[in-house]
Amino acid sequence: MPAGEGLGRVVMVVPTYNESLNLGPVIERLRRAQPEVDVLVVDDGSPDGTGDLADAIAAEDPQVTVLHRTTKEGLGAAYRHGFEVALDRGYDVIGEMDADGSHQPEQLQLLLDALREADLVIGSRWVPGGRIVNWPLHRELLSRGGNFYTRHLLGIRVRDATAGYRLFRRTTLERIDLQEVQSSGYVFQADLAFRTVQAGLRVVEVPIEFVERELGDSKMSRDVATESLKRITVWGLGERRRRLRAALGRSEQPTPPSR
Ligand code: GDD
Ligand code: MN
Repeated sequence: MPAGEGLGRVVMVVPTYNESLNLGPVIERLRRAQPEVDVLVVDDGSPDGTGDLADAIAAEDPQVTVLHRTTKEGLGAAYRHGFEVALDRGYDVIGEMDADGSHQPEQLQLLLDALREADLVIGSRWVPGGRIVNWPLHRELLSRGGNFYTRHLLGIRVRDATAGYRLFRRTTLERIDLQEVQSSGYVFQADLAFRTVQAGLRVVEVPIEFVERELGDSKMSRDVATESLKRITVWGLGERRRRLRAALGRSEQPTPPSR
């Protein structure tokens, strides 16, 4: 059965900032692994010419298109823009994938299969069977710690809420008010996972092997980490208040007369 049969038209949104060494091979692998899946590159005016390279690939392949943004406004802003364009174009499934080869296109089938029973599928490093290859210890600790904090503060069961290999049904993105999302950096990932859970939709995690990039640099920065910590703390406190109010509200209900 071909790729996403029954799921409709699929597009993978690939954000790029200075990925000229990685984008070509990654798109080639994706097009080979899933010939029916389209690609939307969202480049933030990379100074290394990634945008021009993406245009050259798109000129040869009608299933690849490019969205050029003028300034680097963060991963979240780039995804929001890409999602709006993808929704506009009528795709049924809208995915996320890093451009640096960390998310292996050869594993996309696992995510597509899981989407039959889900509204959001996350390719997860932190469920049994998930693996990381070549990640320095400090990144592993940051990811494990960040996910522990996110899971407990927000009260969600997702093990890898910060992961960036995902598939959304269009109906999921339509339920989430994308205009309201303010996360500009990587915290966009946790933001959307939380909103999906809050909307009562089904989130399924499938184990993937995450391979650290061999070329170029990560764009993770202190600002990105600080934004994540701040926003998750604010949402977490809000969630606690909401749960407390709900609990108090219930206990104020008149108790049924005892017999
Ligand atoms: N357009 C655009 N604008 N793209 C960006 C920006 C930006 O401001 N920042 C990062 N990217 C792109 C990168 O070019 C890459 O394709 C992808 O987003 C991921 O960036 P990396 O810098 O490689 O991230 P990492 O390996 O440190 O990331 C980890 O966190 C990400 C965010 O949650 C991984 O866990 C990823 O799976 C995850 O998506
Ligand atoms: Mn990376």
